[in-house]
Amino acid sequence: MRVYVCRPIPEVGIQILRDAGLEVEVNSENRVLSKEELKQAVKNSEAILSILTDPIDAEVMDAAPNLKIIANFAVGFNNIDVKAATERGILVTNTPGVLDDTTADFAFTLLMAAGRLLVDSDQFTRAGKFDKWEPMGFLGQDIHGATLGIVGAGRIGAAVAKRGMGGFQMKVLYFDPSENEELNKLGAKKVDMDTLLAQSDFVSLHVPLNPSTTHLISAKELKMMKKSAFLINTARGPVVDEQALVDALKAGEIRGAGLDVYEEEPKLKSGLFGLKNVILAPHIASASIQTRGKMATMAAENIVAFATGKKPLTPVNPEVLTPGS
Ligand code: GLV
Repeated sequence: MRVYVCRPIPEVGIQILRDAGLEVEVNSENRVLSKEELKQAVKNSEAILSILTDPIDAEVMDAAPNLKIIANFAVGFNNIDVKAATERGILVTNTPGVLDDTTADFAFTLLMAAGRLLVDSDQFTRAGKFDKWEPMGFLGQDIHGATLGIVGAGRIGAAVAKRGMGGFQMKVLYFDPSENEELNKLGAKKVDMDTLLAQSDFVSLHVPLNPSTTHLISAKELKMMKKSAFLINTARGPVVDEQALVDALKAGEIRGAGLDVYEEEPKLKSGLFGLKNVILAPHIASASIQTRGKMATMAAENIVAFATGKKPLTPVNPEVLTPGS
């Protein structure tokens, strides 16, 4: 089986593919390929190990007539047209579970950094402006005891909630179609979106991107948040109407935001750059040495399992494994 790896990933994953006797080609340039380049690169491949920046649509799939599996190096798979893959009998896999805690750590990092004005105060200090202790300077929002609103109480959302309820003694509200019994036992409360927005000091987003979550947070929702509240997004950019967020931050409708993802990343709405009350990270929530190694391992093991006739670990469209079902 020939595998095309769309960008260099931790070597452990490449080694797993090679040890299984698969023929591996890694994009030697560390850049996102254009659609035409990608079509050309995958044309003889039976497997693609894709990155979340590679849109794998029907056209790309049809450029690779022998394609059987697309193993995404991410838990989110909105870059892949799963319906088109299923229609063609192509298996799609992702990397759930291994990045939950690392992503939750980073959501909490953004939450704390935003609430305690860390980036702004760092810039102030670097600029040589720290000339005296300020009784009234850089007054942030307490983290401990604050109300944390989790939008999407799946694995990552729950991991963020637990961080809040643990040492920080936060009150946790969550919005989700399902009850999360584990969170309920720990004292979290499932509420409707309006209640969550109106009562939370920090709103943290943890939903997958799909048509029902696109612009889940727009001007109306931002207006419902407390003026003193912060919005944290480590999910996907289009979950938030980014222009509406810029407007809300400018108008002081909310106090601040911590963002890891953007609506048209890597482009950012230009208004974001000039704002002091937003922290901007370059989509790095899962970026720890350990976790990126685990993601590479999982993506590679999915391909090897498939190639050796075993059940892949984390199929997104398992129905293609049992044709006729
Ligand atoms: C990262 O954003 C992922 O979906 O794994």
